[in-house]
Amino acid sequence: MAKKPVTVTTSQGYPIPNPFETQRIGEHGPLLLQDFNLIDSLAHFDRERIPERVVHAKGSGAYGYFEVTDDITDVVGSAFLNTIGKKTKALVRFSTVGGELGSADAARDPRGFAIKLYTEEGNLDWVYNNTPVFFIRDPIKFPHFIHTQKRNPQTHLKDPNMFWDYIIQNQEAIHQFMILFSDRGTPATYRHMNGYSGHTYKWSNEKGEWKYVQIHLISDQGIKTLNNEEAVELSGKNPDHAQEDLFNSIEKGDAPSWTAYVQTMTEEEAEKLPFSVYDLTKVWPHKQFPLRRFGKLVLNENPSNYFAEIEQAAFSPSHTVPYQEASADPVLQSRLFSYPDTHRHRLGVNYAQIPVNCPYAKTFNPVIRDGAMTVNGNYGSAPNYLSTLENPVEFKQTGVNYQAKQEYYQGPALPFHWKVEGDIDYVQARALYKVLGKQPGQQKALAHNIAVHVANALPQIRQGVYKLFAKVDQKLSNDIRGEVEQINPKQTAGKCPYNHQKL
Ligand code: NDP
Ligand code: HEM
Repeated sequence: MAKKPVTVTTSQGYPIPNPFETQRIGEHGPLLLQDFNLIDSLAHFDRERIPERVVHAKGSGAYGYFEVTDDITDVVGSAFLNTIGKKTKALVRFSTVGGELGSADAARDPRGFAIKLYTEEGNLDWVYNNTPVFFIRDPIKFPHFIHTQKRNPQTHLKDPNMFWDYIIQNQEAIHQFMILFSDRGTPATYRHMNGYSGHTYKWSNEKGEWKYVQIHLISDQGIKTLNNEEAVELSGKNPDHAQEDLFNSIEKGDAPSWTAYVQTMTEEEAEKLPFSVYDLTKVWPHKQFPLRRFGKLVLNENPSNYFAEIEQAAFSPSHTVPYQEASADPVLQSRLFSYPDTHRHRLGVNYAQIPVNCPYAKTFNPVIRDGAMTVNGNYGSAPNYLSTLENPVEFKQTGVNYQAKQEYYQGPALPFHWKVEGDIDYVQARALYKVLGKQPGQQKALAHNIAVHVANALPQIRQGVYKLFAKVDQKLSNDIRGEVEQINPKQTAGKCPYNHQKL
């Protein structure tokens, strides 16, 4: 069938007879400033890139739905969860954390698992990772920690000294580092990993009764991982393997899915824990806080445009719906600020008007108007405040029954660095080492994955690493030391390799 010819135009609609022509004096003379098509095209090209995400820059995404499979109304009153079988449209973006936009999908790194649910009560973002814990519990450490995972300011190289120096000084990160250096640190694909809220959130029911919760999204495809060597090889052979896997699976109708579970905890139970319920470096033991199934997440539709729908997607833990609240976890509290802040920088003040971020629910707030890139009609002639003079606004009670009994906080407004007594930070790391012991070859894989990385670090850093892992298990430490010293037996005391300028 003959193709219908299209007319190419400038951005302003002027039909261009030949889009490859440029206006010039004679055939080979200088170009003319009046050639709007040329300037229109080049100037737009020059501005094609927006800032990449400061973390989680490399990612893949798809649409699907969340379906309620079990009654959960005694725990949460959110409308999208109120009926078994109810489906809500979802967008998911998976990502690695430390690498740049073009970096390899097989990198050893946590994976982001960000979900946007377009509910009837507004957009709800569950901005999760594939690990149930995190590196920090003091939010101010986040920029320090992330800088050590990125490039050295002088060499512009990833730097094992910075990397391990951080954890030696900040041992609350040990649990997350154990997971990161197990084979779960290199998932085979995005389909073969779980998602975890990590943080404690608070959910309440319609009576106003609330509980602490943790959410788990367990892969229906099962867990599959790469070993260190497979991951290194794949990074070179196909740096986009996880993008390719997700896109092709969905394209051929093999829709990946995850089963959603909630763990619940009362305030009284939280008081009896050996750790704080707000401590993001700890999990809630399954036996004490069993997983309760409530839904399913299915991904069955690829985006039609990566930039518009995935690169411009803006997730935030502060985008929530009635009956789901953040807990006082200080890392989560900081995230509530950080995400919309970075969206305003990365996408602009009107990021919520970009179709992928725009709620399907009706929105009305006439003070949120104007600003760069206002494209939604800007409330037309309606008053720009809640006016009683013109078009009087009738306030409708939403019927949300807020949490009846809140936690009570008291104390002086003093700076606080969250340190814990004893070796509580090692208890769950040790439990994980035991879990790995039940899986053939996994304790050895952990020691190997650490060793090949630490072998590139200075001797004094290595010593710190051996000491650190000895607190988890002496055999783990010995195994790491044995392999490191075999790979790189330099025993001389290291000196700082960087030629710092005097600051
Ligand atoms: P259990 O002893 O009841 O079960 C162990 C859990 O460990 C599994 O259910 C699985 O969680 C997870 N797991 C299995 N293999 C690995 C691996 N190679 N790397 C990371 N996690 C793995 O769990 P407990 O609740 O008593 O916790 C024991 C340890 O398990 C914890 O210290 C923690 O390190 C780890 N863990 C615990 C989770 C929790 O929420 N309680 C979640 C994930 C890990 P899953 O089914 O989620 O894959
Ligand atoms: C992305 C900050 C901790 C999960 C981001 C981004 C920032 C950020 C600035 C880029 C967002 C964008 O440009 O769109 C922080 C800070 C943290 C923190 C300051 C701690 C103080 C965490 C934790 C988790 C997490 C604990 C998981 C439990 C994610 C995910 C993304 C992301 C999944 C990618 C979202 C997407 O796909 O667009 N974070 N983060 N972060 N973060 Fe965090």
